[in-house]
Amino acid sequence: MRVRGLRKEYPGHVAVTGIDLDIERGEVFALLGPNGAGKTTTVEILEGHRRRTSGTAEVLGEDPGNAGRAWRARIGIVLQTATDAAELTVAESVRLFARCYPNPREPEEVIHHVGLDGKAGTRVRALSGGQRRRLDVALGIVGRPELLFLDEPTTGFDPKARRRFWELIRLLADDGTTILLTSHYLDEVEALADRTAVLAGGSIVAEGTPAGLGGRALSVATVRWRAGEHLREERTETPARLVRELSADGAEPAELTVTRPSLEDVYLELIGEKP
Ligand SMILES: Nc1ncnc2c1ncn2[C@@H]1O[C@H](COP(=O)(O)OP(=O)(O)OP(=O)(O)O)[C@@H](O)[C@H]1O
Ligand SMILES: [Mg+2]
Repeated sequence: MRVRGLRKEYPGHVAVTGIDLDIERGEVFALLGPNGAGKTTTVEILEGHRRRTSGTAEVLGEDPGNAGRAWRARIGIVLQTATDAAELTVAESVRLFARCYPNPREPEEVIHHVGLDGKAGTRVRALSGGQRRRLDVALGIVGRPELLFLDEPTTGFDPKARRRFWELIRLLADDGTTILLTSHYLDEVEALADRTAVLAGGSIVAEGTPAGLGGRALSVATVRWRAGEHLREERTETPARLVRELSADGAEPAELTVTRPSLEDVYLELIGEKP
């Protein structure tokens, strides 16, 4: 996928300011960013669900703005807000979707993968929020997509469902599926993504591997200790050396702590919301 200068203007508001993105086949790429950053706008343009104002996009070799049915059959979509087929059961919905694709996955297998085995015969309207979200994921993957878009797929998942979903994403990635997901959760991005871009105010403010995000910021540690009356604090890239110096006389430095910024800290700094 290759995106250049992608821009989206709504009346009186620029949602995406002209971004570039390159996502390789087989890659898991995460778009991170706060509410209103432009994640859904970007993803929906790339899915062919929204018109862009300007810029170019090439997704699976075609322009999503005018790609046809054959292209559509190669992608899978999990929208941020689900569509309604409330009177069907889980199994009926998944089977119905499967029939829309030339080479679908086995519906029962997909239902199992999202952990809805016990709910196969339940009507969609009777599912809980998290179960409903799992069905959305099932419908997104049943067509065996080459490219899968997931807009905040785990919103509403309990911790166990989230872990299970992560396993599923890894399975799909091992299978060669290219995945573009959005998330607010850094741990999720760390667990899943090969690369990530942080979107804030419609612009990409950082891009790279989840671990490399923010670069040097992650390598600087803060060492704190008590020296008599005073609490001392020093920021250093070599905390072990400093601690050795502090304890050179054989005494244990009092109240010693060494902390590094978490990925969360770096992220908050990047989006300008450092507490
Ligand atoms: N149909 C629309 N008409 C006008 N403005 C819109 C429309 N859709 C989105 N916006 C605005 O564009 C900006 C980006 O919205 P978008 O939904 O892409 O954000 P997001 O990153 O997906 O946020 P969230 O994390 O809340 O899902 C927001 O300021 C939003 O209010
Ligand atoms: Mg969104």
